[in-house]
Amino acid sequence: MDLILSFSTETWILVAISLVLLYLYGTYTHGIFKKLGIPGPTPLPFFGTILSYRKHRVDLLQLMINSQNSEETDSHKAMSDLEIVAQSIIFIFAGYETTSSSLSFLMYILATHPDIQQKLQEEIDATFPNKAPPTYDALTQMAYLDMVLNESLRLFPIAGRIERMCKKDVEVNGVFIPKGTVVMVPSFALHRDSAYWPEPEEFRPERFSKKNKGNINPYVYLPFGAGPRNCIGMRFAIISMKLAVIRVPQNFSFKSCKETQIPLEIDSQGLTKPQRPIVLKIKLRDETLSGA
Ligand code: HEM
Repeated sequence: MDLILSFSTETWILVAISLVLLYLYGTYTHGIFKKLGIPGPTPLPFFGTILSYRKHRVDLLQLMINSQNSEETDSHKAMSDLEIVAQSIIFIFAGYETTSSSLSFLMYILATHPDIQQKLQEEIDATFPNKAPPTYDALTQMAYLDMVLNESLRLFPIAGRIERMCKKDVEVNGVFIPKGTVVMVPSFALHRDSAYWPEPEEFRPERFSKKNKGNINPYVYLPFGAGPRNCIGMRFAIISMKLAVIRVPQNFSFKSCKETQIPLEIDSQGLTKPQRPIVLKIKLRDETLSGA
């Protein structure tokens, strides 16, 4: 109590202004809530707005929780608490390490291929002049960025192999595979097979140019797997990686240094990762940094 009473007049004025601003913010209809489909334009008190937002938000966790409370639970199986936790954990593990490792490999590629880095930066600067924040539409139109990302995922597919269990006895190319057999598809080896990729160890974004990419066999390029059980986060991963590969090179250039291991030795036990940490030098492109 002493503490509160000992506030100076200025502090009380500041508190009063903050409360008024908070009230105005809470009772004003915000465009963002409208966009999210939250009822308006009736002014909602501040906390009502937040609660309403939470009630109407659409994210994976909320959808899973909704499955427990839905009035239609008779027509489909509600998820148990354990299933919700298991799905949430899988999404964190499947999404975090894969995306961050793919980005590390890509930064290594840019540092060791300055010509490619420069060409990419030219495309970034032309698409978003003066370090303008990226927009979804423009980002998806960037042909060279797409080529560089695809080629990086070819050389460094994070899941070096994918697996399927055979549901019934089958014969493929004269090989009998009994029901229950786990069949392993070696993505890493396929991505570097010279039968499909001329000079496979070379980093060549042109393999994925508009002209060439139609010739790629989808079953020998599998960074996100294939079929009905391919990576469920693929589109999200691609967009978030592209966003990072625009935002960071807008401001910085990567260079190799004496600690950089060239060529990179890969540890393919489990997820594809470098045997030693990737160490690079980062240089500010100019003095003005654009906000993230
Ligand atoms: C660069 C980033 C990523 C790569 C390279 C990657 C790669 C893969 C691969 C190869 C598979 C196995 C597909 C198959 O067996 O055919 C997979 C499955 C999966 N991924 Fe990703 N992934 C990435 C990011 C993400 C993200 C961001 C999420 C979630 C937000 C995610 C969620 C999943 C899930 C849940 C599965 C299992 C799908 C199923 O079994 O039906 N992944 N991912």
